[in-house]
Amino acid sequence: MCGIVGSIGRGEGTVDVLMDGLRSLEYRGYDSAGIALGPETTVLRKSGELDALSEVVDATEPTGTYGIGHTRWSTHGPPTDRNAHPHTDESGRVAVVHNGIIENYAALKAELEETGVTFTSDTDTEVVPHLIAQRLDAGVDPETAFHDTVDRLEGSYAIAAIVEGRETIYAARQGSPLVVGVGDGTTYLASDVPAFVDHTRDVVFLEDGQRVVATPDGYTVLDSDRQLVDMAVETVSYTAEATGKSGYDHYMLKEIHEQPTALRQCFSGRADALDGTITLEEVDEIPQPDAVQFVACGTSYHAALYGAAILREMGIPAEAYLASEYALSPPPVSLGTLVVGITQSGETADTLAALRDAKSRGVSTLALTNTVNSTAARECDHAVYIRAGPEIGVAATKTFSSQLVGCNLLAEELVDGPRDLRPLIESLRDLPDDVQSILDSSRAGELVEEYADSDAYFFIGRGTNVAVALEGALKCKEISYEHAEGFPAGELKHGPLALVTPETPVFAVVTGDDERARKTLGNIKEVQARGAPVIAVTDGVSDAAEIADETLMIPETSERAAPVLANVQLQLFSYHLADALGRPIDKPRNLAKSVTVE
Ligand code: F6R
Repeated sequence: MCGIVGSIGRGEGTVDVLMDGLRSLEYRGYDSAGIALGPETTVLRKSGELDALSEVVDATEPTGTYGIGHTRWSTHGPPTDRNAHPHTDESGRVAVVHNGIIENYAALKAELEETGVTFTSDTDTEVVPHLIAQRLDAGVDPETAFHDTVDRLEGSYAIAAIVEGRETIYAARQGSPLVVGVGDGTTYLASDVPAFVDHTRDVVFLEDGQRVVATPDGYTVLDSDRQLVDMAVETVSYTAEATGKSGYDHYMLKEIHEQPTALRQCFSGRADALDGTITLEEVDEIPQPDAVQFVACGTSYHAALYGAAILREMGIPAEAYLASEYALSPPPVSLGTLVVGITQSGETADTLAALRDAKSRGVSTLALTNTVNSTAARECDHAVYIRAGPEIGVAATKTFSSQLVGCNLLAEELVDGPRDLRPLIESLRDLPDDVQSILDSSRAGELVEEYADSDAYFFIGRGTNVAVALEGALKCKEISYEHAEGFPAGELKHGPLALVTPETPVFAVVTGDDERARKTLGNIKEVQARGAPVIAVTDGVSDAAEIADETLMIPETSERAAPVLANVQLQLFSYHLADALGRPIDKPRNLAKSVTVE
C-alpha cells in the first residue's frame, strides 16, 4: 500500500528519477501522487493516477537537486488533493511521505492541536511533519528532530522526509518495506527495487527499526538507538526490461504469457526426472512436520488451499487459514507444526502478523515467496523462493502458477518415505510447454464475445480444483468488476444454486476422471437444468466436454499439474472480459498490489 521513492546525489534529472520511480510503484496504489524537492522544499501533489501529477509537473517544470515522492493507496481520508502526499508542516519547511498506518496518530494529533497546530489533511501521516517541525522549533538539528519524531510513532511505516536547507533525506522503516539503492554517486530510496532498477541493482534491504540518512556524499544506516549499522549491499538479478511491458497492452497479459518461463525457473535444478527425486535445498534439513498450517491472503490463500489439499493426500494433517483471521483466532499448534506463509510480495501485513503469531508460539515458520529478502523471507525460519520474477499487474497470475509448483516441491521435500515421483516430476517439467499450448490456442477470448453481458459468473470445482474455482472468480471480479463467485461444486445445492439462471454462465473445472470429476458432472447437470450455460475447463478425460455447452481445453497431465493449466484458461477469460469492458486491468479500482496494512 502506497509507494515511496527518494533520490539524492548528483542532482541531475531528479524530477524524472522520482516520476519514473513512482511509475514503477503505481501497482502499490494510485489514488494520488506527489513529490517534494529540495533544497527549497517545493511540493507538487495531485489526486488521481500519476498522469495527473505528470501534467502538473509538465506545466510547472519544478527544479530540485534531491527529493522524495509518493503514490497513494488511501487508508486515512479519501483520495483528494488535500490528502495526497507529501505532507508538510505549517511553515512548509518539512515534507514527508509515508507508507503504512501510524496507529497512535489520533493521540499525537490531539497533542499537536492543543499546541495550536492546524491540520490540513485527514491523514495519519500529517502528524509526522508537524512533530519534526516542533522539534526544529525547540532548537534541535534536523536529524535529531527526525529521530525524536520516529521514536514517538507506533504502527507500521516506511517514511522519508526532507527539511528545507538541509541537503539530506531522512528515512525510517518499521513494518513497511523500504530499500536503499546504491548508485554511482546517487542514493535511492524506495518501497521496492523496480523504482530504481534503471539506475542501480545494488541494494541494501533495510530491517524494521532501521533508519537512513542520505546525503549527496552517500548514506548511513542507523538502528533505533541511532547507532551506525553496517549493512551488506546485495546485487539483485532482475533488470529494467523484466519490469517493462515488453509490447503487451497490460502487465497482466505480459505476466500471463511469462508463465512458461516462470514455471521453468521455479522448477529448474530442483528435481531430477531420471532419479525421481525432488530437492529443495533451502529446506533440506527440515524434519517431516506433524502438521502444516498455511497462512495467506487472496490469491495466495487459494494456493494455500491447494497446498493443504495435496499434503492431506500425502497423509500430513494440513489446513489453509486466511492470514487475517489466523493471528486473531490462532488454531492450536504443537512443536512439530510447521506454519507456511504463502506470499508473493513477502510484505502482506496480515500474513506477516500470522507468521509472527506462529513464531511467538514457538513453532517453525517458512515463507513460500517470490520476493528475495522480503520481510517474510527474513523473519521466517526458512524461505523458499518461487522465482517467478517481478509481477507488476495488481492481479496475481504467474505467481499463483509458480506457488502451486512451489507447493508440490515443498510437499515432496517435507514428507518422508519412498514413492515414485517420476510421473509428477515429468508433468511439472512439461508444464511450461503445456501452458504455452494453452496460450497459443485458448478460446477464452471468443467466449467473452458470447458471455460479456451476463448477470454473474460462477466457478465450480472439487478437490484441488476448488482452489482454481475460487481463484477464477477472484480474478474475474477484481479486474472486470463483474459479479463472480467460486464454490466447491458440491456446495452449489446448499444455497448458491438459487443464484443460477440462464444469465449466469458456470465455469466447471473438471480434470481427470476420478470420483470428484464424476460428481462434478452431476453438478454440471444441476446447473444446466436451471438453464445456465456451462463452460467446462477440462482435459477431456471425463465426459465433461461432451456434456458442457462450451469447453476450454487443457492438455492431459497429472492430477497435481492440471489445476495450473485450468487456471491459465480462467486467467485468459477474466483478462479478455475486463479488456472488452474497458477496465483498467493493471490497476483495478480500490486495490493495490502489496497490502501492507492489516
Ligand atoms: C489478487 C491478489 C491478491 C494477493 C493478496 C496477497 O490477484 O493479487 O489477492 O494475492 O493480496 O498478496 P501476497 O501474495 O503478496 O501476500
